[in-house]
Amino acid sequence: MAKEKTSYVCGDCGASYRRWQGKCDDCGSWNNIKEEKAAVSGAPKGLSGKKGRSVSLVSLNEPIKHQPRLMTGIDELDRALGGGLVAGSAILIGGDPGIGKSTLLLQAMGELSLKGHDCVYISGEEATAQVQMRAKRLGLTDAPLKLGCETSLRNILTTLDDGTPPAVVVIDSIQTMYADHVESAPGTVSQVRVCAHELISFAKRKGTIVILVGHVTKDGQIAGPRVLEHMVDTVVYFEGDRGHQFRILRAVKNRYGGTDEIGVFEMTGTGLSQVTNPSALFLADHNAREPGSAVFAGIEGSRPVLVEIQALVARSSAANPRRAVVGWDSGRLAMVLAVLDARAGLGLAGCDVYLNVAGGLKISEPAADAAVAAALISSLSQIPLPEETVVFGEISLSGDFRSVSQTDARLKESSKLGFSKAMMPKGKKTDQQAMQLHTLERVTDLVSHFFPDGVE
Ligand code: TYD
Ligand code: MG
Repeated sequence: MAKEKTSYVCGDCGASYRRWQGKCDDCGSWNNIKEEKAAVSGAPKGLSGKKGRSVSLVSLNEPIKHQPRLMTGIDELDRALGGGLVAGSAILIGGDPGIGKSTLLLQAMGELSLKGHDCVYISGEEATAQVQMRAKRLGLTDAPLKLGCETSLRNILTTLDDGTPPAVVVIDSIQTMYADHVESAPGTVSQVRVCAHELISFAKRKGTIVILVGHVTKDGQIAGPRVLEHMVDTVVYFEGDRGHQFRILRAVKNRYGGTDEIGVFEMTGTGLSQVTNPSALFLADHNAREPGSAVFAGIEGSRPVLVEIQALVARSSAANPRRAVVGWDSGRLAMVLAVLDARAGLGLAGCDVYLNVAGGLKISEPAADAAVAAALISSLSQIPLPEETVVFGEISLSGDFRSVSQTDARLKESSKLGFSKAMMPKGKKTDQQAMQLHTLERVTDLVSHFFPDGVE
């Protein structure tokens, strides 16, 4: 007889507890533990008794079975996925609601089906008419894509198992799927885990590519895709600010490729369009004559990307001056501020500091230190940076600049976009002739640019 068991499961990491508690001991998140009822059919059986089948073991140097990659034709997507979709793989695409996950996947499936691949799009969130309307808006009405609106896992698997398996299946979204042998509501950790497991096994069994859409919610009501990250082969996040039209597709896990590649898109009235030259887009409204603005020559994945870093420094009378950061790590900002104070005596401790990476991009590279420092000092001194200048370099706690990788790629991109000067750490010799280089050794070199007579 089926026995009902109540457990308390963390919506973030999936850890389960016997009793409710406010904080999850595993991941440390608060108020994410919810009651879940899971039916356990009978007592758990041990392995004894039935014999299993022996598995064929192979050596590492045996010829590899060819794993063809399916190119969607949307270069930015293929790039973020490490060069197309691998047969039999499971991909999880996460992101805030309304960021454009469904739009991107519908466009990708449209393109693939137009190329003759058998694609199935299962929507558990929208009705057929809604998806059709979106397809019309995206100009995909003629794409031979198979659309299904269903939330029952059993019905979906029966449909997919019928006949030749499709090349790609999109499940939009995993939180809406419902397995009828698990007695908890759709979206709970047990449901999400069971549905994902079944779909991933289907992918491995049939060689179909399964793309799962996962929601990320702030309050943890729905199980975040964190639980799923371990189960799938590839995890990509679709990020961006809804106030901006730029969307960035970032791989965070990839068993079949590199993880730090990004794809850049722009949300338009007719769907997502690819941005092949992100630097030009991020610098579109850049005004070099404004104090507090510095252009950072960064690297995202294997591509150089130029972005504008804006800072505002204002004297504050509050005991704890405000620090607000958008698009960069606040801990890193605190470090740069402390170094500028301690090594160059700028007195930023008594100032409110606001820092913004223009365009909604999130930067994680330490090479941005120099550009952040330049923007801060420029705002403090009210003197703009020299025109046509890019800045990059890492700052160490001792106040020295440290060289960063891929200097040539950074300089080449800068020169391509009309920049003629670069402030950068002394490092390897570069063969770049087009740029006038200004090498930085210590933070005081940067400060003396803006305060030639010393800091008062
Ligand atoms: P959607 O793909 O539904 O987001 P998600 O699946 O991640 O929840 O995208 C919804 C948003 O995209 C919506 O706010 C409207 C906008 N949008 C456009 O601006 N242009 C378009 O052509 C489409 C289809 C959507
Ligand atoms: Mg959607």
